[in-house]
Amino acid sequence: LLRVKADEIMAEMQPTMYGIFFEDINFAADGGLYAELVKNRSFEFTDPMMGWSQPATDRHSLNKNSGSASVLKPTREHNPRFCRITVHDDEKYHLVNEGFRGMGIKKGETYRLSFSAALKEGNITGVRFQLTDTTGQVLASTSVSPDSTGWKTYTSQLVAGKTVPKAQLKISFTGRGTLDMDMVSLFPANTWKNRANGLRKDLVQLLYDLKPGFLRFPGGCIVEGRTLEQRYQWKKTVGPTEQRELLINRWNTEFAHRPTPDYYQSFGLGFFEYFQLAEDLGAEPLPILNCGMACQFNTGELVPMDELDPYIQDALDLIEFANGTADSHWGKLRHDMGHPEPFAMKYIGVGNEQWGPEYIKRYKAFEKAIKEKYPEMTIVSGSGPFAEGEHFEYGTDELRKLRAEIVDEHYYKPPAWFRDNAGRYDSYDRNGPRIFAGEYAAQSVAIASPENRNNWECALSEAAFITGLERNADIVHLTSYAPLMAHVEGWQWTPDLIWFDNLRSYATPNYYVQQLFSLNKGTHVIPATLGGKALTGQDELYATASLDRNTDDIILKIVNTSGRQRQQEVLFEGGNVQSEGSVTILQNDDLQAENTLNTANVTPVEKEIEVRNNKVNIALAPYSFSVVRVGR
Ligand code: AHR
Repeated sequence: LLRVKADEIMAEMQPTMYGIFFEDINFAADGGLYAELVKNRSFEFTDPMMGWSQPATDRHSLNKNSGSASVLKPTREHNPRFCRITVHDDEKYHLVNEGFRGMGIKKGETYRLSFSAALKEGNITGVRFQLTDTTGQVLASTSVSPDSTGWKTYTSQLVAGKTVPKAQLKISFTGRGTLDMDMVSLFPANTWKNRANGLRKDLVQLLYDLKPGFLRFPGGCIVEGRTLEQRYQWKKTVGPTEQRELLINRWNTEFAHRPTPDYYQSFGLGFFEYFQLAEDLGAEPLPILNCGMACQFNTGELVPMDELDPYIQDALDLIEFANGTADSHWGKLRHDMGHPEPFAMKYIGVGNEQWGPEYIKRYKAFEKAIKEKYPEMTIVSGSGPFAEGEHFEYGTDELRKLRAEIVDEHYYKPPAWFRDNAGRYDSYDRNGPRIFAGEYAAQSVAIASPENRNNWECALSEAAFITGLERNADIVHLTSYAPLMAHVEGWQWTPDLIWFDNLRSYATPNYYVQQLFSLNKGTHVIPATLGGKALTGQDELYATASLDRNTDDIILKIVNTSGRQRQQEVLFEGGNVQSEGSVTILQNDDLQAENTLNTANVTPVEKEIEVRNNKVNIALAPYSFSVVRVGR
């Protein structure tokens, strides 16, 4: 008999218990969540014409004199390059942008075009923009008449006549002469909340449907950079988009499993947009900043301690940006960007996945400065990747001595590890730091192997493990799966929670596990015991229970990782429960089952259950995760 005791509170569940961790990996930002369709819109990639082609000149040598485009660099500090286009034969010459693995275009939808241009010589009277499919069929068209010899921004709209996953943007000209162009941008009008410079609606909806308690951003290894020069610097990601300085993505060729030489960060999705997204999702913003250390798996470059001040200042200024009044320097920028109210940031992370004495030295300096100025801010400290048998990885017991508030632990391990470690936090020091299980995912093959699959075995094993996170909610305050998103044609890392192409997206079995825990977390943990013990894998069963004080529901989550069907009798103690309840089941007989863009093999199914005398007999299907809800 499984006993659930509603009158015995074990711990308060933090509203932040289930959150999301966003990193620009796998084309998650540019080419993904960030809805911009033009790749290399400002000609700032290392190869400044990457993403652009001039078919008439490239393909037909006879036409080589039809025109040309070359990229120039004036003395502007940010976004210095622009494209100079000379048209000799306007019948033949045109430019094409290929988009991020093409452009996903939907029939009947409006696309907002913008670009800056300056007329130089000759008589160019018109610029035509057409969306075409790969055969050259025109799907949408608009023309603009440039009328200024100085830089001027022009806008227009295109309405697509057809749905196409891999469209491209063709630019042609009327007249002959020379014209400079920059910031050629095309967005669907139908972004999340219809914002210009907005986010892809279907992808934000998937995040929203998780009801995440926090949004950790912007990474991951991209926070650290391969070198300090290439670290993520939030100040370069705010203000007008055309002034945000492009950076090569840490997940570009060299360190990725798949070559992605066209992977850059435009920072159109920058810190302002991350805070705004957190607000939209009802999630606590949790930015992580570089702590003066580059990625320890790459160069491990360190900033000398006597040069750490600018890094610390970035952290202090970020708090001012998020929370300061409009009369503070950084608060004013937030205000001017359209958010007069503070973002009410409460957490700040110092360093991602960093460890060892050099980290501790830098962490201490950050902690001192942040707490002196903002004592109410909660600091999340990093730790190294998981090493077997250790609690704070690589012996960062120092963090415990320092009374660090929250330690971010990461584990990418085989599915069996997740099943075997459902009791990981049972023995943690209750007086030590709280835990942020900030990155975890079961790896079906080997860590970060490209062959890893988002299969049901991985998701089910994560569910088993999460029962242990939840049971220990007194010390585990935040948790998030990683990585969050991947483009099916642009990924560097598997598995990932959400997959998408240019038009579609889907939730993995792992996503539904996260969602079921998040939507059913309740407000307080209560005991769920069999023979007086918590279920942490005995007979391949795992369980956790909670009470939702808002609805007065009792919630029981049971994971059956065995291939056997079994009946489990459950007794709800501590007051009478209603006779009708529900059970939501995630199940598949095949542990290799996956969801895809075209098939949903593992999705939650809800059923009614009958409760008699506070007892219910639950059918636990083979390889299943069940969430039982009963009202009081
Ligand atoms: O989630 C992928 C990477 O794994 C993250 O960037 C890093 O923090 C970890 O090593």
